[in-house]
Amino acid sequence: MSRYDTDYTKMGLATRAIKVGEAREPITKALNTPIFETSSYGYETAEEYDEMLKRGADWEEDLFIYSRTTNPTTDAVRKKVMALEGSEDAIICSCGMAAISNALLSNLNAGDHVICSDDTFMCTSSMFADILPAKGIETSRVEILDIENIEKAMRPNTKVVYLEVLSNPQLKLANLPAIAQIAHKHGCKFIVDNTFLSPIVLKPLQLGADIVVHSGTKYYVGHGDALCGIVAGSRQDMDKVRYYYDNFGSHISPFNSWLLLRSIKTMPLRVKQQSANALALAKWFETRDEVDFVTYPGLESHKQHELAKQIFEDGVFGGMLCVHLKDGYEQMCKFVDATKIPPVATSLGDVVTLVFPKSAYNNLIRISTGCEDVNDLIADFTQAFEQM
Ligand SMILES: Cc1ncc(COP(=O)(O)O)c(C=O)c1O
Repeated sequence: MSRYDTDYTKMGLATRAIKVGEAREPITKALNTPIFETSSYGYETAEEYDEMLKRGADWEEDLFIYSRTTNPTTDAVRKKVMALEGSEDAIICSCGMAAISNALLSNLNAGDHVICSDDTFMCTSSMFADILPAKGIETSRVEILDIENIEKAMRPNTKVVYLEVLSNPQLKLANLPAIAQIAHKHGCKFIVDNTFLSPIVLKPLQLGADIVVHSGTKYYVGHGDALCGIVAGSRQDMDKVRYYYDNFGSHISPFNSWLLLRSIKTMPLRVKQQSANALALAKWFETRDEVDFVTYPGLESHKQHELAKQIFEDGVFGGMLCVHLKDGYEQMCKFVDATKIPPVATSLGDVVTLVFPKSAYNNLIRISTGCEDVNDLIADFTQAFEQM
């Protein structure tokens, strides 16, 4: 057996992130996976092609017919994702919303009911407010910190419980093992969005979720240069999702897959550094007179800090924190405008720190902590406070 055929899937997280999925290219012996910019794959004879079509109908590993369904560069990403999420199968989509809509629509039909947590990303909220109801799917939004609310919202036709593990933007942490129990007791699929934490901080499939989705645009990509969506779970669940993904045309481009291959290799390093920086920043913000309160799961003041300690891995708490200043909108704007390192921008999970002020949430300032030197960030936020 060649050294290049080694199974890395049982090795440590960092080794998996770097090594899994990328086989040496057999003709040139190139170590890095090429960008396979091809829509189709050529076969020798009609008979061989016909045989491939029959096998492809049930989706088969390493079988390539058309790149809307499978592409070798994207498949290398899929294998890395499976190794990091601990899943039997995974699907790499064009963006997070493609991942979410495919995961939901493959599990919900007209007449079904779905329960969703009350704090979610804007477009996810639109799915539950407008898009699903318009297709005849009943939706309920519930506050999930009191898990009794989920039990109370159950109906005979409830098919799915959906939530964000650490919610956008309020950073509420869901008790995954407890909620999984309720969902499964009622025969529901438990689908969770783990965008805000990444598999480096928490692996939902190990805590009772059936399907995990991500906006891979965030921590997976990590450099703000590509969009990506991830769905992971059992082969059976992914076959259902894949049918929608393929027919809706939710695939990612081979070039973006290649960016992901490079990015995922450093995801463990990045997320650990972002988490260390976020904890230092959160503690520092708590000492400032201008600040009313800080929300960060690594702080003892966070309502689910004990839960975070139980279910997060490696003693890290992620890179997302929220700061509420004592004074209102004007102070929020003055503070944000005076910063020099973080751009004022949406999105999160990048190596660069991003600030995202939200007047709609009581002037919350969401900070996606990057990998800069934390002393420089603290110095920058200090001078911004001094200018207020
Ligand atoms: C929690 C969460 N889920 C999903 C999405 C959607 O991801 P995308 O922009 O990649 O479609 C976002 C985007 O910010 C998000 O924050």
